Amino acid sequence: MNPTTPPEKTAMTATIDAALASIPRERLPALLQRMPKAELHIHIEGSLEPELIFALAQRNGLSLPYTSVEALRAAYAFKDLQSFLDIYYAGASVLLTEEDFFDMAMAYFRRAAADHVVHAELFFDPQTHTDRGVPFATVIDGLTRAVDAAQRELGVSALLIMCFLRHLSEEAAFETLEQALPHRKKIIGVGLDSGEHGNPPEKFARVFARCKELGFRLVAHAGEEGPPAYIWSALDVLHVERIDHGVRCAGDPALVARLAAERMPLTVCPLSNVKLCVFKSMAEHNLASLLDAGLCATVNSDDPAYFGGYMNANFTEAFAALPQLTARHAHRLAANSFEASFAGAAQKLRWKTALDAAFAQA
Ligand code: ADE
Ligand code: ZN
Repeated sequence: MNPTTPPEKTAMTATIDAALASIPRERLPALLQRMPKAELHIHIEGSLEPELIFALAQRNGLSLPYTSVEALRAAYAFKDLQSFLDIYYAGASVLLTEEDFFDMAMAYFRRAAADHVVHAELFFDPQTHTDRGVPFATVIDGLTRAVDAAQRELGVSALLIMCFLRHLSEEAAFETLEQALPHRKKIIGVGLDSGEHGNPPEKFARVFARCKELGFRLVAHAGEEGPPAYIWSALDVLHVERIDHGVRCAGDPALVARLAAERMPLTVCPLSNVKLCVFKSMAEHNLASLLDAGLCATVNSDDPAYFGGYMNANFTEAFAALPQLTARHAHRLAANSFEASFAGAAQKLRWKTALDAAFAQA
């Protein structure tokens, strides 16, 4: 399938079609910057910049094993997912109070708004905090307050997705679900993250089944480092509605065909994939071929403070390194982000109309 042939072809005006065909590559960076977009794969703890880690450590009277912001940033050289996770969990240990979670999320929302992110679905890892004695309510209250402030002050809408840490047990995930239930209305869905190797989706089949009964939307990281088999199980065992990353589907043509046929969204994170050595360089990233295979791929930042950029850096660096990517791909990626979001249909239509307008004026 050609990526230039969106599923809602009839809704796309002839004006947009013509505009897309005539936009030269030189105009893409500005267009990528100003087009409205949704971010569907951001770990809020991964937006904690070294400066804020130091500020929160000082506010909370904690000492860090790094002498300066620069020394901490210099440690961000990762060879794989686990080498990143070790430092990411250490960074999150400065978060203690509701104010800390609020400040972290607001810092992200300001960066997102500057990148014309109009909607964000934030992952948070409660177990990273509750295992250190921080109450679940402290985490969710700080984040919820930031979600409300982002809408009010920045015009960014946001939803929260609670992730289970897959290196921990099924029992621990069930305990976390229990703690979340009094806050059910503040959480749109559940996800699955942390180290993929040796922690297949099947380990959480019963937890996800219960979450589905409770009405949570379901997503899971699969096929980041793990094999295509993990993507099959995320679909068939966990019954997820989006695959986070999923780039390793490319090794399995039957899986690619299924993902395309079902328009199963993949929340792709280009800078993350390069920093964690999933691809040797951005030039080798498969974003363009996933789109050209008809997949509902989206672009996201994953852990922007650790991987060298927020949303627009992910877009501009991917487009700079992959000459196959055109204005049609840019429009499709943004349209996919709205289609794949957990927002309501009327809101999705308003965003899509604003997106078309941005391209019609290009
Ligand atoms: N937690 C934070 N970032 C992650 C990633 N890229 N993969 C799995 N778990 C994560
Ligand atoms: Zn992730």
